[in-house]
Amino acid sequence: KKVVLAYSGGLDTSIILKWLQTELGCEVVTFTADLGQGEELGPARRKAEMLGVKEIYVDDLREEFIRDFVFPMFRANAIYEGEYLLGTSIARPLISKRLIEIAEETGADAVAHGATGKGNDQVRFELGCYALNPDIKVIAPWRDWQLKSRTELLEFAQMHQIPVPKDKRGEAPFSVDANMLHSSSEGKVLEDPAEEAPQYVYQRTVDPMEAPDEATTLEIGFEKGDPVSLNGVAMSPATLFAKLNDYGRDNGIGRLDMVENRFVGMKSRGVYETPGGTILLKAHRAMESITLDRDAAHLKDELMPRYAKIIYNGFWFSPEREMLQAAIDKSQEHVCGTVKLKLYKGNVMIVGRASPASLYSEELVTFEDDNGAYDQKDAAGFIRLNALRLRTLAKRKQLLNK
Ligand code: ARG
Ligand code: SIN
Repeated sequence: KKVVLAYSGGLDTSIILKWLQTELGCEVVTFTADLGQGEELGPARRKAEMLGVKEIYVDDLREEFIRDFVFPMFRANAIYEGEYLLGTSIARPLISKRLIEIAEETGADAVAHGATGKGNDQVRFELGCYALNPDIKVIAPWRDWQLKSRTELLEFAQMHQIPVPKDKRGEAPFSVDANMLHSSSEGKVLEDPAEEAPQYVYQRTVDPMEAPDEATTLEIGFEKGDPVSLNGVAMSPATLFAKLNDYGRDNGIGRLDMVENRFVGMKSRGVYETPGGTILLKAHRAMESITLDRDAAHLKDELMPRYAKIIYNGFWFSPEREMLQAAIDKSQEHVCGTVKLKLYKGNVMIVGRASPASLYSEELVTFEDDNGAYDQKDAAGFIRLNALRLRTLAKRKQLLNK
């Protein structure tokens, strides 16, 4: 039996690797993705070698991640439950896609992941894999093994000469998932939602209160709803996104502490940092504000929570997501131009927007003479007809109250 394991190089997935080899007798292929999590991936390769893995994949997926997953999602202004920018949710389908590709390349009939049986990630990984290969076998050791406690896990590691970092001997203080879009922290010291998160949880933004006392200005250029330049300089998706992250980090932007509803039914408290994404979301909305028709924009806003939930629940590779994506992409045809922003102590402030495809008409909106562009008398009939129902209802009320 051959299995492709989504391998981070960390302690938990190393234990899983060994467990697949020793308990299930599998030949393990490892796959480690560089999604811009900001970790050296050399150690993951060396650890896999040390654990006897022959086929080791370490892939730089940063451009693909931003171009084909993050940007399409931002075209929709997707937010889950009013706050969460879906940083983990959107990375899972890409990992699933690579797992399946590598399984095909190496002739493996199974894939494995290190998500627990209590979370969203197991659902996302597995729905993604089944959507791309209906016959794939999925192994989720966290749901299957008999290792019931941290102590047993560490004993297993020791028994198999898996190096255990000193600080991991006890409990890790919380669980982290990171990529170029965000870092998320959950569990352990964060489990009581009434308690403020300790400052050391934050890892990619400065405390807004310690951010510079002067605003940083920035101009983002858009084409078809995607950012393509910063301060007039064209950049690749991942290069641009990394720069946005730097701006966001320095100005304390994109921190979030929330309680969300997991797909599996429980509420969970998470601390997120999405510096570049928080800037991009605001800027994109500002770009749309002058380039999208009103009713197209409003329809988009109605569809958005639905689209966000589809991604959160792990249905990226589904007909409903693709249908909505087609509508959203169509809406972005004329979303181009530039947005000027100021970043200041955790705030993203839009200060200007301009587009060659703008629908904004100074002539129409002006309080000065508009040279006949708009006849104010038309508004009287517009209001009269819209008031018709309301007046009829009011009349009835009068009558019934007599
Ligand atoms: N709650 C977030 C989500 O479901 C993040 C989960 C990230 N996983 C982690 N091990 N912290 O998308
Ligand atoms: C996990 O349970 O593996 C992480 C949290 C989640 O997937 O929601």
